[in-house]
Amino acid sequence: MASGESSAATSDPLARAAQQLRRARSVVVLTGAGISAESGIPTFREAQTGLWARFDASELATPEAFERDPQLVWSWYAWRRRLVREAQPNPGHFALTELETRVAQFTLVTQNVDGLHQRAGNRRVIEYHGSLMRTLCSREGITIADAVEDETLPRCHRCGAPGRPGVVWFGELIPAEALECSASAARECNVFMSVGTSSLVYPAAGLAEAALRAGAYVIEVNPAATPLTRLADAVLRGPSGTVLPALLDAMH
Ligand code: OAD
Repeated sequence: MASGESSAATSDPLARAAQQLRRARSVVVLTGAGISAESGIPTFREAQTGLWARFDASELATPEAFERDPQLVWSWYAWRRRLVREAQPNPGHFALTELETRVAQFTLVTQNVDGLHQRAGNRRVIEYHGSLMRTLCSREGITIADAVEDETLPRCHRCGAPGRPGVVWFGELIPAEALECSASAARECNVFMSVGTSSLVYPAAGLAEAALRAGAYVIEVNPAATPLTRLADAVLRGPSGTVLPALLDAMH
Protein backbone atom coordinates (compact mmCIF):
# COMPACT_ATOMS: atom_id res chain seq x y z
CA MET A 1 0.00 0.00 0.00
CA ALA A 2 1.38 3.41 -0.94
CA SER A 3 2.16 5.74 1.95
CA GLY A 4 -0.68 8.05 2.88
CA GLU A 5 -3.32 5.43 1.94
CA SER A 6 -5.27 4.29 4.95
CA SER A 7 -6.17 0.67 5.60
CA ALA A 8 -9.78 1.67 4.86
CA ALA A 9 -8.65 1.67 1.23
CA THR A 10 -8.73 -2.11 1.22
CA SER A 11 -12.23 -2.52 2.69
CA ASP A 12 -14.05 0.27 0.88
CA PRO A 13 -14.78 -0.86 -2.70
CA LEU A 14 -14.76 2.75 -3.98
CA ALA A 15 -11.30 3.38 -2.52
CA ARG A 16 -10.00 0.05 -3.82
CA ALA A 17 -11.38 0.73 -7.29
CA ALA A 18 -9.88 4.23 -7.30
CA GLN A 19 -6.51 2.83 -6.26
CA GLN A 20 -6.56 0.31 -9.12
CA LEU A 21 -7.53 3.02 -11.61
CA ARG A 22 -4.72 5.26 -10.42
CA ARG A 23 -2.17 2.53 -11.05
CA ALA A 24 -3.62 1.31 -14.34
CA ARG A 25 -1.83 1.84 -17.61
CA SER A 26 -4.74 0.62 -19.67
CA VAL A 27 -8.45 0.92 -18.84
CA VAL A 28 -11.51 -0.30 -20.73
CA VAL A 29 -14.99 0.97 -19.87
CA LEU A 30 -18.10 -0.75 -21.22
CA THR A 31 -21.29 1.26 -20.88
CA GLY A 32 -24.93 0.35 -21.31
CA ALA A 33 -28.31 2.06 -21.25
CA GLY A 34 -28.04 2.75 -17.49
CA ILE A 35 -25.48 5.52 -17.96
CA SER A 36 -27.99 7.48 -20.05
CA ALA A 37 -30.92 6.84 -17.68
CA GLU A 38 -30.14 10.03 -15.74
CA SER A 39 -30.26 11.96 -19.03
CA GLY A 40 -33.90 10.86 -19.35
CA ILE A 41 -33.43 8.07 -21.90
CA PRO A 42 -35.27 4.91 -20.86
CA THR A 43 -33.23 1.70 -20.55
CA PHE A 44 -34.23 -1.36 -22.56
CA ARG A 45 -35.48 -3.54 -19.77
CA GLU A 46 -37.70 -1.06 -17.95
CA ALA A 47 -41.32 -0.71 -19.01
CA GLN A 48 -41.88 1.97 -21.63
CA THR A 49 -44.21 4.85 -20.96
CA GLY A 50 -46.63 7.00 -22.97
CA LEU A 51 -47.23 6.17 -26.61
CA TRP A 52 -45.02 3.11 -26.54
CA ALA A 53 -46.19 1.61 -23.24
CA ARG A 54 -47.75 -1.45 -24.84
CA PHE A 55 -44.58 -2.40 -26.75
CA ASP A 56 -41.60 -4.30 -25.45
CA ALA A 57 -38.37 -2.58 -26.53
CA SER A 58 -36.57 -5.87 -27.09
CA GLU A 59 -39.33 -6.89 -29.52
CA LEU A 60 -39.00 -3.71 -31.60
CA ALA A 61 -35.22 -3.92 -31.92
CA THR A 62 -35.20 -6.92 -34.27
CA PRO A 63 -34.93 -7.52 -38.04
CA GLU A 64 -38.16 -9.55 -37.81
CA ALA A 65 -40.08 -6.60 -36.34
CA PHE A 66 -38.77 -4.36 -39.12
CA GLU A 67 -39.73 -6.87 -41.79
CA ARG A 68 -43.22 -7.19 -40.33
CA ASP A 69 -43.84 -3.47 -39.91
CA PRO A 70 -41.00 -1.16 -40.99
CA GLN A 71 -43.04 1.99 -40.37
CA LEU A 72 -43.78 1.00 -36.76
CA VAL A 73 -40.10 0.29 -36.02
CA TRP A 74 -39.01 3.49 -37.81
CA SER A 75 -41.49 5.56 -35.75
CA TRP A 76 -40.18 4.05 -32.50
CA TYR A 77 -36.63 5.01 -33.42
CA ALA A 78 -37.79 8.48 -34.55
CA TRP A 79 -39.25 8.89 -31.05
CA ARG A 80 -36.01 7.70 -29.42
CA ARG A 81 -34.02 10.11 -31.63
CA ARG A 82 -36.18 13.00 -30.48
CA LEU A 83 -35.59 12.01 -26.84
CA VAL A 84 -31.85 11.89 -27.47
CA ARG A 85 -31.78 15.27 -29.25
CA GLU A 86 -33.54 16.85 -26.27
CA ALA A 87 -31.28 15.09 -23.73
CA GLN A 88 -27.96 16.28 -22.31
CA PRO A 89 -25.00 14.21 -21.10
CA ASN A 90 -25.09 13.76 -17.31
CA PRO A 91 -22.32 13.76 -14.64
CA GLY A 92 -21.66 10.05 -15.31
CA HIS A 93 -20.78 10.80 -18.96
CA PHE A 94 -18.59 13.74 -17.94
CA ALA A 95 -16.71 11.63 -15.37
CA LEU A 96 -15.72 9.26 -18.20
CA THR A 97 -14.53 12.22 -20.29
CA GLU A 98 -12.29 13.17 -17.38
CA LEU A 99 -11.10 9.58 -16.95
CA GLU A 100 -9.99 9.49 -20.58
CA THR A 101 -7.62 12.37 -19.89
CA ARG A 102 -6.11 10.67 -16.81
CA VAL A 103 -5.31 7.21 -18.18
CA ALA A 104 -2.49 6.45 -20.62
CA GLN A 105 -4.55 4.02 -22.67
CA PHE A 106 -8.30 4.40 -22.48
CA THR A 107 -10.95 2.57 -24.49
CA LEU A 108 -14.62 3.37 -24.16
CA VAL A 109 -16.93 0.74 -25.61
CA THR A 110 -20.61 1.65 -25.58
CA GLN A 111 -23.69 -0.41 -26.33
CA ASN A 112 -25.62 2.85 -26.48
CA VAL A 113 -26.62 4.32 -29.80
CA ASP A 114 -27.38 7.80 -28.44
CA GLY A 115 -24.04 9.58 -29.07
CA LEU A 116 -24.03 11.11 -25.56
CA HIS A 117 -20.43 10.02 -24.82
CA GLN A 118 -19.23 11.89 -27.88
CA ARG A 119 -21.32 14.92 -26.94
CA ALA A 120 -19.80 14.84 -23.44
CA GLY A 121 -16.35 15.01 -25.04
CA ASN A 122 -14.95 11.48 -25.11
CA ARG A 123 -12.63 11.29 -28.06
CA ARG A 124 -12.33 7.60 -28.75
CA VAL A 125 -15.65 5.76 -28.54
CA ILE A 126 -16.32 2.31 -29.97
CA GLU A 127 -19.99 2.11 -30.96
CA TYR A 128 -20.68 -1.57 -30.41
CA HIS A 129 -24.34 -1.43 -31.44
CA GLY A 130 -24.07 1.30 -34.07
CA SER A 131 -25.68 4.73 -33.99
CA LEU A 132 -29.20 6.05 -33.91
CA MET A 133 -28.12 9.04 -35.97
CA ARG A 134 -27.28 7.09 -39.14
CA THR A 135 -29.76 5.71 -41.64
CA LEU A 136 -28.90 2.67 -43.75
CA CYS A 137 -30.46 1.06 -46.79
CA SER A 138 -32.15 -2.07 -45.41
CA ARG A 139 -31.14 -4.05 -48.52
CA GLU A 140 -27.56 -2.95 -49.22
CA GLY A 141 -26.45 -1.73 -45.79
CA ILE A 142 -24.97 1.48 -47.20
CA THR A 143 -25.44 4.77 -45.38
CA ILE A 144 -28.19 6.71 -47.12
CA ALA A 145 -28.63 9.74 -44.92
CA ASP A 146 -28.02 11.20 -41.55
CA ALA A 147 -31.14 10.41 -39.63
CA VAL A 148 -33.90 12.92 -39.96
CA GLU A 149 -36.56 13.43 -37.32
CA ASP A 150 -39.21 12.66 -39.88
CA GLU A 151 -41.71 9.97 -38.88
CA THR A 152 -42.03 8.89 -42.50
CA LEU A 153 -40.04 5.83 -43.47
CA PRO A 154 -37.23 6.96 -45.80
CA ARG A 155 -36.34 5.11 -49.02
CA CYS A 156 -32.93 4.33 -50.47
CA HIS A 157 -32.26 6.73 -53.33
CA ARG A 158 -30.46 3.94 -55.26
CA CYS A 159 -32.70 0.90 -54.93
CA GLY A 160 -35.91 2.14 -53.29
CA ALA A 161 -35.67 -0.26 -50.32
CA PRO A 162 -36.82 1.12 -46.96
CA GLY A 163 -34.24 2.95 -44.84
CA ARG A 164 -33.48 1.59 -41.37
CA PRO A 165 -31.69 3.00 -38.33
CA GLY A 166 -27.94 2.29 -38.28
CA VAL A 167 -28.13 0.23 -35.12
CA VAL A 168 -27.35 -3.42 -34.49
CA TRP A 169 -30.49 -5.43 -33.82
CA PHE A 170 -30.83 -8.67 -31.87
CA GLY A 171 -29.49 -11.50 -33.99
CA GLU A 172 -27.32 -9.21 -36.15
CA LEU A 173 -23.54 -9.12 -36.26
CA ILE A 174 -21.48 -6.54 -34.38
CA PRO A 175 -19.44 -4.40 -36.86
CA ALA A 176 -16.14 -6.29 -37.34
CA GLU A 177 -13.84 -3.43 -36.36
CA ALA A 178 -15.78 -2.69 -33.15
CA LEU A 179 -15.75 -6.38 -32.28
CA GLU A 180 -12.01 -6.83 -32.81
CA CYS A 181 -10.84 -3.55 -31.22
CA SER A 182 -12.90 -4.05 -28.08
CA ALA A 183 -11.95 -7.72 -27.69
CA SER A 184 -8.24 -6.97 -27.89
CA ALA A 185 -8.55 -3.94 -25.56
CA ALA A 186 -10.43 -6.13 -23.01
CA ARG A 187 -7.74 -8.82 -23.15
CA GLU A 188 -4.95 -6.30 -22.62
CA CYS A 189 -6.33 -3.89 -20.01
CA ASN A 190 -5.39 -3.66 -16.32
CA VAL A 191 -8.82 -2.42 -15.24
CA PHE A 192 -12.18 -3.15 -16.86
CA MET A 193 -15.28 -1.20 -15.81
CA SER A 194 -18.82 -2.28 -16.58
CA VAL A 195 -21.18 0.67 -16.16
CA GLY A 196 -24.98 0.69 -16.37
CA THR A 197 -25.38 -2.53 -18.28
CA SER A 198 -27.48 -5.57 -17.38
CA SER A 199 -24.63 -7.82 -18.64
CA LEU A 200 -27.22 -9.99 -20.35
CA VAL A 201 -26.61 -9.27 -24.03
CA TYR A 202 -23.72 -11.03 -25.76
CA PRO A 203 -21.16 -10.60 -27.19
CA ALA A 204 -20.86 -7.29 -25.23
CA ALA A 205 -21.30 -9.06 -21.89
CA GLY A 206 -18.43 -11.41 -22.81
CA LEU A 207 -15.92 -8.52 -22.77
CA ALA A 208 -15.86 -8.41 -18.96
CA GLU A 209 -15.36 -12.18 -18.87
CA ALA A 210 -12.46 -11.94 -21.33
CA ALA A 211 -10.88 -9.21 -19.19
CA LEU A 212 -11.29 -11.32 -16.03
CA ARG A 213 -9.70 -14.34 -17.71
CA ALA A 214 -6.76 -12.17 -18.74
CA GLY A 215 -6.27 -11.02 -15.13
CA ALA A 216 -7.80 -7.52 -15.21
CA TYR A 217 -9.34 -5.91 -12.13
CA VAL A 218 -13.09 -5.68 -12.84
CA ILE A 219 -15.31 -2.92 -11.45
CA GLU A 220 -19.10 -2.90 -11.80
CA VAL A 221 -21.15 0.30 -11.43
CA ASN A 222 -24.89 -0.42 -11.25
CA PRO A 223 -27.71 0.19 -8.76
CA ALA A 224 -28.86 -3.42 -9.27
CA ALA A 225 -27.20 -6.84 -9.31
CA THR A 226 -26.31 -8.45 -12.65
CA PRO A 227 -24.72 -11.77 -13.65
CA LEU A 228 -21.34 -9.96 -13.48
CA THR A 229 -21.78 -8.89 -9.84
CA ARG A 230 -20.48 -12.09 -8.25
CA LEU A 231 -17.41 -12.13 -10.51
CA ALA A 232 -16.42 -8.46 -10.15
CA ASP A 233 -13.53 -7.39 -7.90
CA ALA A 234 -15.31 -4.21 -6.82
CA VAL A 235 -19.06 -3.60 -6.98
CA LEU A 236 -20.13 0.04 -6.72
CA ARG A 237 -23.86 0.15 -6.09
CA GLY A 238 -25.69 3.27 -7.18
CA PRO A 239 -26.52 5.47 -10.16
CA SER A 240 -23.53 6.17 -12.41
CA GLY A 241 -24.21 9.93 -12.26
CA THR A 242 -23.25 9.82 -8.57
CA VAL A 243 -20.83 6.88 -8.39
CA LEU A 244 -18.54 7.83 -11.29
CA PRO A 245 -17.84 11.42 -10.13
CA ALA A 246 -17.17 10.04 -6.61
CA LEU A 247 -14.77 7.49 -8.08
CA LEU A 248 -12.90 10.20 -10.00
CA ASP A 249 -12.68 12.29 -6.80
CA ALA A 250 -11.31 9.29 -4.91
CA MET A 251 -8.54 8.92 -7.52
CA HIS A 252 -6.93 12.21 -6.44
P1 OAD B 1 -30.49 -2.75 -20.10
O1 OAD B 1 -31.76 -1.97 -20.25
O2 OAD B 1 -30.51 -4.21 -20.30
O3 OAD B 1 -29.90 -2.53 -18.63
C1 OAD B 1 -29.78 -1.28 -18.07
C2 OAD B 1 -28.95 -1.45 -16.79
O4 OAD B 1 -28.73 -0.15 -16.29
C3 OAD B 1 -29.62 -2.26 -15.71
O5 OAD B 1 -28.70 -3.22 -15.20
C4 OAD B 1 -29.97 -1.22 -14.63
O6 OAD B 1 -29.87 -1.74 -13.31
C5 OAD B 1 -28.89 -0.19 -14.89
N1 OAD B 1 -29.22 1.18 -14.46
C6 OAD B 1 -30.44 1.78 -14.38
N2 OAD B 1 -30.31 3.05 -13.98
C7 OAD B 1 -28.98 3.29 -13.81
C8 OAD B 1 -28.20 4.41 -13.41
N3 OAD B 1 -28.77 5.58 -13.10
N4 OAD B 1 -26.86 4.27 -13.36
C9 OAD B 1 -26.27 3.09 -13.67
N5 OAD B 1 -26.95 2.00 -14.04
C10 OAD B 1 -28.28 2.09 -14.12
O7 OAD B 1 -29.42 -2.04 -21.04
P2 OAD B 1 -28.11 -2.62 -21.68
O8 OAD B 1 -27.37 -3.48 -20.72
O9 OAD B 1 -27.41 -1.48 -22.30
O10 OAD B 1 -29.18 -3.86 -27.71
O11 OAD B 1 -28.69 -3.52 -22.82
C11 OAD B 1 -27.81 -4.13 -23.68
C12 OAD B 1 -28.37 -4.15 -25.06
O12 OAD B 1 -29.62 -4.81 -25.07
C13 OAD B 1 -28.68 -2.79 -25.65
O13 OAD B 1 -27.58 -2.19 -26.28
C14 OAD B 1 -29.74 -3.11 -26.63
C15 OAD B 1 -30.54 -3.94 -25.69
O14 OAD B 1 -31.71 -4.42 -25.97
C16 OAD B 1 -29.71 -3.81 -28.90
O15 OAD B 1 -30.58 -3.03 -29.22
C17 OAD B 1 -29.11 -4.81 -29.84
